[in-house]
Amino acid sequence: MSSGFTLAPVPTLDGSRAPQGRVLGDRGISYGGDYNPEQWPEEVWAQDVALMREAGVNLVSIGIFSWALLEPRQGAYDFGWLDRLIELLHAHDIRVDLGTPTASPPAWFFAAYPHTRVVTREGTTLGFGSRGMASPSSPEYRRASVAIAQQLARRYGQHPALALWHVHNEYGAPVSEDYSPTSAAAFRTWLQARYGALSALNDAWGTTFWGQRYGEWEHVGVPAVAPSVVNPAQRLDFARFTNDQLLACFIAERDAIRAESPHVPITTNFMAGPCPAVDLWRWAREVDIVANDHYLTAADERGHVGLALAADLTRSVAAGRPWVLMEHSTSGVNWQPRNVAKRAGEMARNAFTHVGRGADAVLFFQWRASRSGAEKFHSAMLPHAGTSSRVWREVCALGADLGRLDEVVGSEVRADVALLWDWESFWAQDLEWRPSADLSHRERSEAFYDRLWRDGLTVDMAHPEADLSAYRLVVAPASYLLTQAAAENLTRYVADGGTLLVSYFSGIVDEHDAVHPGGFGAPLRDALGLTVEEFLPLRAGEQARLGWPGGDPSGDGPLELVGDVWTDDVTLDGAEVVATYLDGPAAGGPALTRNTHGAGAGWYLSTRLDAEALAPVLAAVYRDAGITPAGLPEELEVVRRHGAGAEYVIAVNHGEAAATVPLGGAGQGLADDLISGQRVEHAFTVAPGGVRVVRIAHDADDAAPTAPS
Ligand code: GLA
Repeated sequence: MSSGFTLAPVPTLDGSRAPQGRVLGDRGISYGGDYNPEQWPEEVWAQDVALMREAGVNLVSIGIFSWALLEPRQGAYDFGWLDRLIELLHAHDIRVDLGTPTASPPAWFFAAYPHTRVVTREGTTLGFGSRGMASPSSPEYRRASVAIAQQLARRYGQHPALALWHVHNEYGAPVSEDYSPTSAAAFRTWLQARYGALSALNDAWGTTFWGQRYGEWEHVGVPAVAPSVVNPAQRLDFARFTNDQLLACFIAERDAIRAESPHVPITTNFMAGPCPAVDLWRWAREVDIVANDHYLTAADERGHVGLALAADLTRSVAAGRPWVLMEHSTSGVNWQPRNVAKRAGEMARNAFTHVGRGADAVLFFQWRASRSGAEKFHSAMLPHAGTSSRVWREVCALGADLGRLDEVVGSEVRADVALLWDWESFWAQDLEWRPSADLSHRERSEAFYDRLWRDGLTVDMAHPEADLSAYRLVVAPASYLLTQAAAENLTRYVADGGTLLVSYFSGIVDEHDAVHPGGFGAPLRDALGLTVEEFLPLRAGEQARLGWPGGDPSGDGPLELVGDVWTDDVTLDGAEVVATYLDGPAAGGPALTRNTHGAGAGWYLSTRLDAEALAPVLAAVYRDAGITPAGLPEELEVVRRHGAGAEYVIAVNHGEAAATVPLGGAGQGLADDLISGQRVEHAFTVAPGGVRVVRIAHDADDAAPTAPS
């Protein structure tokens, strides 16, 4: 029996199948979380499902860490408890996201196959007693994980409660790279497939440097700790290899499941954002539905901006299709240095931001707080304090509110701006001996995103080789590694009328971490009208002032900005100088430039400006790109989802003052608040810390009538 899910044949890059529209069947927004009832006596389960119903829970993720229970000895299975659990959930109309437990192999596995344990770069063999997978290159692990996945798929693959398969858990965490002999052998095989001849590897890695030339394949190893810096091209290839090995583990399980359970979508939970180990552009093509986990960075008081970035990145790797928020937290987590609790309303703001940016499922880690183990201080939907708690009341209220958003499911987000994002470039830039310890692709990506967020613009992340023609503006905050193909793509984008803004330390190396010939940034010379003759990084705390005649956004007056971390000695080749360094090592040289190329323009900014100082730069670039920000209060987050007959405005107020969103001419100035049921005319107000979801029918006459309240 199917769960109502149909596989729509949407063309993707590699022709793999991908569902469109309602990604989880014909239900509304899915709501729930990880459910680990095996940690509790079965008497508790009945109470759990009753409370789930009370909270509006309709989907739970189960079995994610249950390998030791499901297969207590190799090849001996015990599914009794899981049978009873799935029947109980089904009887209460709660659908199941069934995990394969392969993120945590049992003790018997490591006892039987000790050589499958992961070895760190420093040479430490990791022990048992925590979680974390075996070597992804181990054939024994591959066999055992496929076997348990296949058993689960055979037993539950046709169950009517089954909505989704959840393979593994967060590939790439807590460990990704493995430096064991098993991994080394697999790495050599991978390199042979990539390069064919050893001479090609020697060329790609530049092994004549420091006398590293290889004469035998057997001498090529993993880039473990060595007396000094290890060959960066070798390390970059090892990062690619690791990604491929993890992905192969996923694909092996996925295919085993698909053979037994062809009508149920299969996913794995990503960690879009901070986790650099897996290239989600590649992974997203292999899942039926993209799913993501997100946790706020507690130390960051504006963590909701990072949340928005992660949600936009998730939607982007999903090629714009709706996605599943597989995990977030109701309140504090337990693994950061200071686990700040979410304050009243914050959980709902977080959840609605995810929905606004494309999530059709809102799930948490976890349903009921654990009494034992490493995560007992992590928040839950049902906290240790029980149902007489603020968290529980907010969980129930959120479930009720999301229950009113059925029609939003399947609608899509559109963006005018693309932010370039490339995991391979991040892997390469993160290696040692870069020109400054203060270079950070993450910091630059977040700062530019923050600026765009504050300006109320919706952003897609895009791979530098992707089709960018739909965007008015493309921002490249950190494109250290830029292939020739990507540079040509960006140059074509500008020639065809696009506006490109590039930040420093971009276009520096090719796919082997080898410097592009012709000066730094040479592949972008046509688009930007310049190259960089020499990097001029600044000392810690040192600043450089920029003078911008006519830069004052309130008129044509002069503007002075202050940068730090970096400056460049730029060689102009057609670009006009917009702002000039007033001091620092590049004094008198260009700081901000604009180049006309074909029908478009390429801008280059060669220093680090914080999100505040980026405002006038982006304002000028927006004008060039024909983008007019809505001019709403900075802490009011407004995102739109577009459905068949309507547009949904999701407004989240992070500020301390009420804020108003004008409807403009859309829907003839009429709209409906989906949560309160009230009619909205011309504008609506969002209370401090509040959330509203408003439907504007494409034709006001089509608006579904709502009861006045
Ligand atoms: C991750 C894991 C979960 C849990 C949470 C806690 O996202 O997938 O199993 O450990 O973190 O925040």
